[in-house]
Amino acid sequence: MKQYNIAVVGVGAVGKEILKTLKTRNFPVASIKVLARSAREIDVDGQSYMVEEISPESFKGIDIALFAGTEGEKGASVTYAPSAVKEGAVVIDNGADFRLKDDVPLVVPEVNAADVKNNKGIISNPNCSTIQMVLALHPIYKLSRIKRVIANTYQAASGAGQSASDELYNQTAEFLDGKDLTIKAFSKRIAFNVIPQIGSFGELDYTTEEWKMVYETHKILHDDNIKISATTVRVPVKTGHSESIYIETEKPLLVDEVRTALNAQSGIKVVDDINSLQYPMPYESEGTDDVFVGRIRKDPYVPEGLWLWVTADNLRKGAALNAVQIAEALINDGQF
Ligand SMILES: NC(=O)c1ccc[n+]([C@@H]2O[C@H](COP(=O)([O-])OP(=O)(O)OC[C@H]3O[C@@H](n4cnc5c(N)ncnc54)[C@H](OP(=O)(O)O)[C@@H]3O)[C@@H](O)[C@H]2O)c1
Repeated sequence: MKQYNIAVVGVGAVGKEILKTLKTRNFPVASIKVLARSAREIDVDGQSYMVEEISPESFKGIDIALFAGTEGEKGASVTYAPSAVKEGAVVIDNGADFRLKDDVPLVVPEVNAADVKNNKGIISNPNCSTIQMVLALHPIYKLSRIKRVIANTYQAASGAGQSASDELYNQTAEFLDGKDLTIKAFSKRIAFNVIPQIGSFGELDYTTEEWKMVYETHKILHDDNIKISATTVRVPVKTGHSESIYIETEKPLLVDEVRTALNAQSGIKVVDDINSLQYPMPYESEGTDDVFVGRIRKDPYVPEGLWLWVTADNLRKGAALNAVQIAEALINDGQF
């Protein structure tokens, strides 16, 4: 089997998870180059990696570059992805910088793996809350077109990176010790609180995170007509995003047919037995690969209306795993 030269950019919450995922999925790796702002040795799950300082020349000979650095104008992706592409690598980017660009496929492999064909060197990984929602919507969409989605998210601290995850622990300890709370990674206190803001406020007073869920879902499902709105909320959970999702389909669906379709979807695990109190919870999703769906029920007033409760590990399916699956889809597509 052919093996590939891989670069991983960033060794924060997602970058470390990418290194673990490449190993656990036995990805055909010839070499791994780990890049960040500063050189050092790191340990990930008992394996040590030498991190090299990134530069535009870092990507010589690299086949696939998995980016998990920072976003924005001066971030790792905007600064270095073009150099990686110039050197002949395919970039799979976890950030939001390229996701909505016309020539950049945005891919959840179980849903639209075929879109990897259209890449011009960069493929984007969707936002973590979009990935788990789209994977749950996909089998339902195949039963009946979806007209309307209202999503409320309960997003874990690690979704904002390693420093945010650390802040949840530190603030909790400070709170329990009766000390003043140090607020740095989030705009407000996260310990023993929920924050109804993820990203910055924009059009119609929705946040950037809320608009990501709208536009990214349209792009992945190839349907701009789905009326989606979201409220995204940060909660004091370490890892594992949860979502309460209301869906309106074109034709009314039975709960049983929805459950059967969800059960048949690869990447989804239905956990839905209220008699034995079985429903998905974020702490049980942490460290797992599936997107879990439960609390499947009809809206009491709208025949086409359905509710789902969906959880997933934001660092795995929401980021690292999905990125590695995109790399696998590229190989399956014969692009190397
Ligand atoms: N966390 C999630 O659940 C999640 C989910 C989906 C997508 N994402 C996206 O994934 C990306 C990484 O997120 P994260 O949570 O892992 O962040 P993080 O924990 O803050 O880690 C960021 C890493 O990027 C490196 N970095 C920063 N600027 C860089 C530059 N200019 N060049 C090279 N490396 C640079 C940092 O290097 P140093 O260590 O050397 O400072 C650090 O290792 C972000 O775009 C984020 O939006 C995150």
